[in-house]
Amino acid sequence: MRAVDLIHKKRDGGELSAAEITFLIQGYNKGEVADYQMSAWAMAVFYRGMTAKETAALTLAIAESGDRVDLSPIRGVKVDKHSTGGVGDKTTLILGPLVASLGVPVAKMSGRGLGHTGGTVDKLESIAGFRTELTREQFISQVNDIGLSVIGQSGDLAPADKKLYALRDVTATVESIPLIASSVMSKKIAAGADAIVLDVKAGSGAFMKTQEDAEKLAAAMVAIGMQVGRQTAAVISDMDQPLGFAIGNALEVAEAIATLKGQGPTDLTELCLALSAHMVVLGGEAASIEEATAKLRAQLHNGEALAKFKSFVEAQGGDGSMIEDPGKLPAAPIQIEVEASVSGYVAAIEAEQLGLAAMVLGAGRATKEAGIDYAVGLVLRKKVGDHVGEGESIATLHVRTSNDDSDKVAERVRAAYRIQPDKPKPRPLLLAVVTADGISRLDS
Ligand code: URA
Repeated sequence: MRAVDLIHKKRDGGELSAAEITFLIQGYNKGEVADYQMSAWAMAVFYRGMTAKETAALTLAIAESGDRVDLSPIRGVKVDKHSTGGVGDKTTLILGPLVASLGVPVAKMSGRGLGHTGGTVDKLESIAGFRTELTREQFISQVNDIGLSVIGQSGDLAPADKKLYALRDVTATVESIPLIASSVMSKKIAAGADAIVLDVKAGSGAFMKTQEDAEKLAAAMVAIGMQVGRQTAAVISDMDQPLGFAIGNALEVAEAIATLKGQGPTDLTELCLALSAHMVVLGGEAASIEEATAKLRAQLHNGEALAKFKSFVEAQGGDGSMIEDPGKLPAAPIQIEVEASVSGYVAAIEAEQLGLAAMVLGAGRATKEAGIDYAVGLVLRKKVGDHVGEGESIATLHVRTSNDDSDKVAERVRAAYRIQPDKPKPRPLLLAVVTADGISRLDS
């Protein structure tokens, strides 16, 4: 087999066999297929697309390019969740304990963040003493004991994806649905999931700018799941503003705690309930989404979800008193109000800009090696649809020092808000659900 022939075949619209795709991915991973050939192939895929069979073969080839996590010693159906990204996205902190409190085991490997704010692992490390490095045995026995563990990514999962993603980033081939779908699903499969729930965002702040494209991506990922024997469901949600109010590590932990007590922001609570209902159904603990949602809602109000979070934090060495009293979490010494320069209604909030603002304050890493400040960040006071008066606070910055930099951040936050005279038409958060049964639209 020669790479050039496979590039040729794809360029001309042919379908590659699983053996041909495996040849390309293995060869690329070992350095035997050159970057320029893989780039040409990715561009051919960008224009020609891939069949469902090819996309599934690509996913498995990438998943098999490195370590595979074996979660079989954990009892029950292990359901993993993936989000296609979002500023202020603290859903894992909520879904994990919520789902585990109904008996669905959650064994999750999460990343550190680059950019905006930290990843889930960084957020958890804002709780004093919390350890994200457990041995495999500790990880598995904790999930068997209390139903939940979240650790940092270890091992070499899907190395072919890292190489290919970096290459796509510099060859204008990121925005290809089969390439995104296989990239996401390969990592979940390598991480040992039996079933997968996907949180797919649509909108200006997301990878997929339109609902139509988000549905296509979700359908491609669900089709991969069906082909490789992992039940998969996707919830598509609107991302025209950050989720919840808090952006910043400890601030997001505090918001997650409020949500686990049933006192969280409506958008965050609704998305978490929608995603966790699918996890509970796939995990076999409810027969329908309606039944799962009712049970989950009860867990937010009867203290069970919060109690699960506390026992999880303590099992990983964290200070459980911070969960009982979030006032003990790291806090920044200075709070600065960002005032609106005009009055009107908030029509949109550029999530990306707020993420960058949080990063400049120190909540996220600009480089892999950089440290992060758990305490800093921002809390939104106004969300889309709210009325704001001139001079009224739209957001609060939590900072270490008040200086030129914090002034610039305040200006960036102000610029991220689009304020207009008329009340905008309300937009639903949850847009559609994609499962093996097809697409059901929630906004019509
Ligand atoms: N996220 C991924 O993990 N892979 C992609 O290709 C795009 C987004």
